[in-house]
Amino acid sequence: MSIIMITPLLAGNWKMNGSRASAESLLLQLAQVKLPDAIEMAVFPSYPFLLQAQQILNQTAIAWGAQDVCVEEKGAFTGEVSASMLADFGCRFVIVGHSERRQFYGESNECVACKCQIALAHGLTPIVCVGETLDEKERGLTQNVVGRQLAAVLTKVATDALVKVVLAYEPVWAIGTGLTPSAQEAENVHVFIKQQVAEKNRLVVEKMPVLYGGSLKATNASELFAMPNIDGGLVGGASLDAHEFLDIARQLAQCKFG
Ligand code: PGA
Repeated sequence: MSIIMITPLLAGNWKMNGSRASAESLLLQLAQVKLPDAIEMAVFPSYPFLLQAQQILNQTAIAWGAQDVCVEEKGAFTGEVSASMLADFGCRFVIVGHSERRQFYGESNECVACKCQIALAHGLTPIVCVGETLDEKERGLTQNVVGRQLAAVLTKVATDALVKVVLAYEPVWAIGTGLTPSAQEAENVHVFIKQQVAEKNRLVVEKMPVLYGGSLKATNASELFAMPNIDGGLVGGASLDAHEFLDIARQLAQCKFG
C-alpha cells in the first residue's frame, strides 16, 4: 500500500485542560519555534481558547481545531457548538467520536458518522476516532468493533468527501494509561483500517492519514511512527508540554522522511 501521497499529521488533543493564561503560553511556545518540514501539525484546545489559537497560530504552519462538534446545524441546542461556528474561528479540523465522547456522553457510531458529515459540509476535516476497549481486545473483538465504527462512517460519507477525512486508531485501554500496543500490533490494526477504506475506495486510502493515539509520548513515538501504515499521531497528555509535542513532531518527520 503506497504511503507516498499521505501527509503525516501530528494532532494535540488538549482535552479539558488549561486556563486562558496557560493556553496562551503553550500556543506562544508552539508559534515561536521552527517546525519540521513536510508534516502537518494541529492543536485542539477547549472551545473558549479557540480565539486565542486563531490569533496566535494564524501566521504559523500549525492548524487548530475543536474536540467535538454538534450534530445539528443550529438552533435550540443548549451547550452545543456548531460546525459553522468552528469554521468561523478558523478551525481546519475537528475531532469526532473520541472514545471519551462515546464512553461518557453515549455517542453512537451513527451519531459519530453524522458529526463527520456535518463537519465536512462546513469545510472542516474530521479526525474520526475508532478503537476497542480492553475487554473487547481480550475477547478478540478489535477488528469487529473497529470495523463497525468505521462502517458507520464509510456508509454515511460520500466517496468524494471521504478523501478529506482523517482516521485515528485509539485503543481505549491505551488512552491516558501509559499502556500502548506494540508497534506491530498497532500497525496491524492500521492495515485493517486501510483495507476497510480501500474496499470503499482504493484511491482514498492512498491519501488518508490514519493516526495512532493512546499514551503516545516522546519515548515511544519513533517506534510507532516507523511503521509504514501509521501516518501520524493524536497526542493527549504529552501535547500539553510544548517541548515534548515538538519532540514528537520531529520524530514523525524523521521517521517518514529521514
Ligand atoms: P493520551 O490521549 O495521549 O493522553 O493517552 C490520547 C487521546 O485521547 O487522544
